[in-house]
Amino acid sequence: MIALLNKNLYQTKSFINNEWVEAANKQTYKVLNPYDHAVIAQIANLGATETRQAIEAAEKAQQQWKKVAAHERANLLKKLFALLLENADDLAKILTWEQGKPLAEAKGEIIYGASFIEWFAEEARRIYGDVIPAHGQDKRIITLKQPIGVVGIITPWNFPNAMITRKLGAALAAGCTVVIKPAGNTPLSALSIAYLAQKAGFPAGVINVITSENSSEIGKELCANPSVRKILFTGSTPVGKILIKQCADTVKKVSMELGGNAPFIVFNDADIDSAVEGAIMSKFRNAGQTCVCTNRIYVQSGIYDAFVTQFSAAVAKLKVGNGFESDTIIGPVIDTKALTNIQHFIDDALSKGACLMQGGAILKPNSNLLSPTILSNVSEDMLLAKEEIFGPVAPIFKFETEAEVIALANNTEYGLASYFYGQNINQIWRVAEALEYGMVGINTGMISTTVAPFGGIKQSGNGREGSKYGIEDYIEIKYLCFGGIE
Ligand code: SIN
Repeated sequence: MIALLNKNLYQTKSFINNEWVEAANKQTYKVLNPYDHAVIAQIANLGATETRQAIEAAEKAQQQWKKVAAHERANLLKKLFALLLENADDLAKILTWEQGKPLAEAKGEIIYGASFIEWFAEEARRIYGDVIPAHGQDKRIITLKQPIGVVGIITPWNFPNAMITRKLGAALAAGCTVVIKPAGNTPLSALSIAYLAQKAGFPAGVINVITSENSSEIGKELCANPSVRKILFTGSTPVGKILIKQCADTVKKVSMELGGNAPFIVFNDADIDSAVEGAIMSKFRNAGQTCVCTNRIYVQSGIYDAFVTQFSAAVAKLKVGNGFESDTIIGPVIDTKALTNIQHFIDDALSKGACLMQGGAILKPNSNLLSPTILSNVSEDMLLAKEEIFGPVAPIFKFETEAEVIALANNTEYGLASYFYGQNINQIWRVAEALEYGMVGINTGMISTTVAPFGGIKQSGNGREGSKYGIEDYIEIKYLCFGGIE
């Protein structure tokens, strides 16, 4: 057990209707530390029946929660925000323990996660309707914005805190109640948020967390159950497609934050130092396990060699290891399946002629540690050009012209994040407008923030999280038409 100031943050049961509950059949499953595979928790392993109970609790709570005044919902969210910050060190430790990312990065995620709760506490008071000029002299028209109802939130293991709070904050602010299904490998962060929400004073049934290693059983129930009015999911595109299909029978709304294949383009006139810094940030954050991580680096021929040399030298300095050691920059990847998958991308590229510039080695048996890897001489027929690597592997492609690189960058079914570095203002506008992505980083490798709309186009999903737009996914618009006005 890790040392926590507040030991109550470590919870292993599910949270339904403000109670900590076991599976009806008492089943539990093991959660492993990705660094050394030690068992860190035995977690309640719930199924569809308990999920239905959570949905019922959320539906009952919804009837009251939607009537709570906006400023009261905001005040509860502010209390939760304060508690998240107060417990940030412990929450970061729990996060590193179950997910592996370095402690400083985990703390960064806790602050990032809490910022969504604060942001949506503020937004709760600004869900305005409209008065619309009517279509007749005797008519008056107004719109109301009302909470959508019970929402199902299905979240990934790569951001066990922030991917919950980004949805939870908006849902609660809008007046929705929630049933959360966190990833099987990282339930502890979700349960610690539930614990703090209970302390903040949210009424019973408003927030429910179902833990299970059988994500598909819980997902099916959330999608099929007519009382759930909306599903929000962050995860892979294939799983997103399954959830969308499962929601069809109840014509449920969905918001999907799915996979990416982010290009990172460096033009000849770019500042190489800052491009290298941005590439490291966007490629190796969370050991390459974010949906917005750079997947393909395209460097223009005039500076290709210089960039590869500088990037390789900088990457060689990144220390890989246990997230609890203070000098670790890159932690383990989540599990052995992920490690095998990443290794497959490297092997495929090497078998098709790629050159290994840096890394490529599994560092310690039984630890999921992979050294940050750079591949040059890569080509479009390699798997890593088409699919999301989700690991610390950076392939560097060479290009000649702007038109060529735009075509290459857009040649993917994904459209989440993209990045480019250059100085020419005309080119900056042309490229920013031409990239078919929901988010574009220009001379920066770090685009994630509470205040901007996070989300993708094409098969990277729909809906936007965070920002002033984030609340819209949780709201129905109702129009009232008054007639016979004299
Ligand atoms: C994600 O990888 O899904 C989210 C990353 C972020 O918010 O920066």
